[in-house]
Parts: sequence; C-alpha cells; structure tokens
Amino acid sequence: MKILAFNASPRKGQSVTDVLMNTFLESAASAGAEVEKHYVVDLDVKGCVGCFSCWWKTPGQCVHRDDMDWILPKMVEADAVVFGTPIYHYNIVHHLQRLRERTLPLNMPEMYIQEGETHHPGRHEKKKPQRRIVISVCGFPDLSNFNQVEGLFPGAVKVFLPSSGIIYDESGRGYLEGFFQAIRQAGEELTVDGDVSEETRMKLIVDYPDEVKIMIVEKYNSWSREATPGT
Ligand SMILES: Cc1cc2nc3c(=O)[nH]c(=O)nc-3n(C[C@H](O)[C@H](O)[C@H](O)COP(=O)(O)O)c2cc1C
Repeated sequence: MKILAFNASPRKGQSVTDVLMNTFLESAASAGAEVEKHYVVDLDVKGCVGCFSCWWKTPGQCVHRDDMDWILPKMVEADAVVFGTPIYHYNIVHHLQRLRERTLPLNMPEMYIQEGETHHPGRHEKKKPQRRIVISVCGFPDLSNFNQVEGLFPGAVKVFLPSSGIIYDESGRGYLEGFFQAIRQAGEELTVDGDVSEETRMKLIVDYPDEVKIMIVEKYNSWSREATPGT
C-alpha cells in the first residue's frame, strides 16, 4: 500500500490538519504502508493556464515544468492519495485547488456518461481503484462548513473536524478520543484491507450537539476577547 499525502494548510507543521494527517499516516505506516507526505505550499506548482496542450498537443504532458513533473507519476502509482485542507471561506484552500487543476493531464479528453453523470476517462488504467481520503478542519463548530469539500471529493473517505481549536483544550482532547482512535483505525484498515469500513467512516466526522456548540462558542469568545489588543 503506497500512500501519497498532501497537506495544503499554509500553517504546515503547526496546523491541526497536520495533527490529523500524521495520526492517520503513522497508523498506516505501522500497519506496513509506505507513506509520503508533502506540504503543498512548499511545492512549485504553477497555475493551470487552460491551454489544453496536455490533451490535444502533447497528450499527458503539461506546458509547465515544475514539481507536477514528479507529482503526477507518483499520483498514478499511489494506491491511496490523502488531501488535507483547512476551510477558508467555506472552501478548500487555493493551494490545493491549484494542485487539483494541474491533474488535468491524468484524464483523457473524451467524455462518457455513467448513471446520468458525464466524466472524462483516466489516462492511466489502474488494476485496483485508487482510494481517496480527505482530511479537513475548520473554525466554526458546524459541519455545513464542509459542504464544498463533500462535493469536491465524491467517494472519498472523509475526516472532518469542526472547531479545530478544541484540540488545544484538555477537555476537548478528551472529547475527541474516539475520533482520534477512529483515525488510527482508518489508517490500519486502509493498509490491511485496502479500504475503510462504513463503521469506521461514520466515526471520522465530528458532529457536535447544540449544547457542545454553545460551550465551544462561549470559550472561544472569551479567549478571543483576551487575545484582541485594546479590549
Ligand atoms: C482566510 C481564512 C478563512 C477562513 N474561513 C473559514 C470558514 O469559512 N469557516 C470556518 O469554519 N473556518 C474558517 N477559517 C478558520 C480555519 O478553517 C481554521 O482556523 C482551521 O483550523 C485552520 O486549519 P489549520 O490549523 O490546519 O491550518 C478561516 C481561516 C482563515 C485564515
């Protein structure tokens, strides 16, 4: 099992995204997976210019020469790809969107319709379907902040932590024990079974009840007042 991971948080090693991603990858590695992680902001990934050369002029090859030259073959080779992103303005961060746009050479220009939806076929035939895992965190306590991420990664294993600051709080960490256990379980299942069970998937999304949301918001507001100069 080869797992290729991209953490798109600009906060890199300081990010909550990284804490969750490392938990997942460490568990997968100790179950025998070969794992590789990159911080997207450290990569040289130029923006897609929409020239479609990678389809009709030089099939499979982009006009840009940058880190996508080695990322794309690694993506093809990987059994699973993990994407990590905080939510910025209800969406994935632009660094990740730029990387995703540059995967166009992995698709063929033709279209086909499956179950009423139109797609482009992949350029590289895979013996086994590639697994996708998306890890996302946000500041508000509501799961609705991940609506765009849900739409962007259909079929992916989803790890969602709203109110990510909760991990800095001792009682918060206690509250999340089952969540972290589920992340470790997911890393192991992916490596050993090749997929994550439905039972584990359900535990990878933190859904706070209203009374917990109220506590989180009150704690956050008092912390924020103290942190704001002149208040
Ligand atoms: C520019 C910006 C926009 C943000 N927009 C949202 C948002 O729409 N919804 C939300 O819940 N949190 C939002 N946040 C908060 C981040 O999602 C939150 O701080 C997250 O934990 C950061 O993740 P990281 O620690 O992995 O970098 C925003 C943060 C920034 C800097």
